[in-house]
Amino acid sequence: MERIHITDVAPRDGLQNQQVPVSTDAKLQLIRLLAAAGVQSVEATSFVSPKAVPQMADAGDLVPRLHAALPQLRTSVLVPNLKGLERAHAAGAQEIAVVLSATETMNRKNINMGLEQATEVSAQTLAEARRLGLRTRAYVAVAFDCPFEGPTALTAVQASCARMLEAGAGEIVVADTIGSAAPGQVRQRLGALAGTVPIERLAVHFHDTRGMGVANAWAALQAGVRRFDASAGGIGGCPFAPGAAGNVATEDLVLMAEQSGFATGISLPGLLEAIDFAQDQLQRPLGGRAITWLRRQRDKALASTS
Ligand code: COA
Ligand code: ZN
Repeated sequence: MERIHITDVAPRDGLQNQQVPVSTDAKLQLIRLLAAAGVQSVEATSFVSPKAVPQMADAGDLVPRLHAALPQLRTSVLVPNLKGLERAHAAGAQEIAVVLSATETMNRKNINMGLEQATEVSAQTLAEARRLGLRTRAYVAVAFDCPFEGPTALTAVQASCARMLEAGAGEIVVADTIGSAAPGQVRQRLGALAGTVPIERLAVHFHDTRGMGVANAWAALQAGVRRFDASAGGIGGCPFAPGAAGNVATEDLVLMAEQSGFATGISLPGLLEAIDFAQDQLQRPLGGRAITWLRRQRDKALASTS
């Protein structure tokens, strides 16, 4: 079976926007459960301003503990600038992701820089990360629509992708930050971007705001993409992008991919344990589109073995 690669972003995209504070111990436990479910790659946290995102203020404590507990796990962290990179490197991070939005206003709202400066800072951060021997990813955010400027020009997305590749990004993550894309648009846009980014270095990051996250992932699969971000339980959303709902749920993506003949290495019952844990922590029901059916399958399996 052909393999797809999933990065679970629940610990970062998922937890950055929660009202309930989550302890470092609980974050660690969530990531342990994800790894136990077979998740091989996570985005663990972000080294951003604690004033901007208080939920990620413990990044410097979390990363060394995570590496000690789960040395085999591929762990990326988001950094918005050189200061973030410096903090991440000091904490022992081995992989970073920069975040460049393809529009002027989204950059200003998210990282307080215009497009030109954000591009420059992201490029410098990537170059410095490479010099330090770190693996690198570059998010190209609002790659379909911007919550402030409307539809994002394809040429703007292509230019951001090209610049991030040139600056040394190992992987380009095309992000539908507000979850507004539909599968036909995904097919078209990824087809066009494949001329700019080698397909094996292209990843996609969908949000499920309009219920099309899994359909969009399928369109990306058909376009040849094999790298996906997703979030266990479907938690997520950028606090600076109004209207963004959670990420496409990892359990939905795994179910869709496995049933369609792709291997993920991830166990659905294992994911359910991680989701149950996150649900206890956040004190609200979590889960993607298939969660009720998945839980019913688990209950049936448990009943038949007891
Ligand atoms: N980590 C921690 N602190 C940081 C930092 C980082 N990566 N970058 C800057 N700071 C600190 C500065 O040291 C300074 O601290 P001081 O007030 O104690 O002197 C303060 O933040 C302001 O620095 P400045 O460079 O002027 O930043 P800013 O106020 O223009 O904010 C960002 C820019 C990028 C730091 C901020 O907008 C941010 O963290 N955004 C993250 C957004 C995010 O996580 N979005 C969701 C994921 S896409
Ligand atoms: Zn996101």
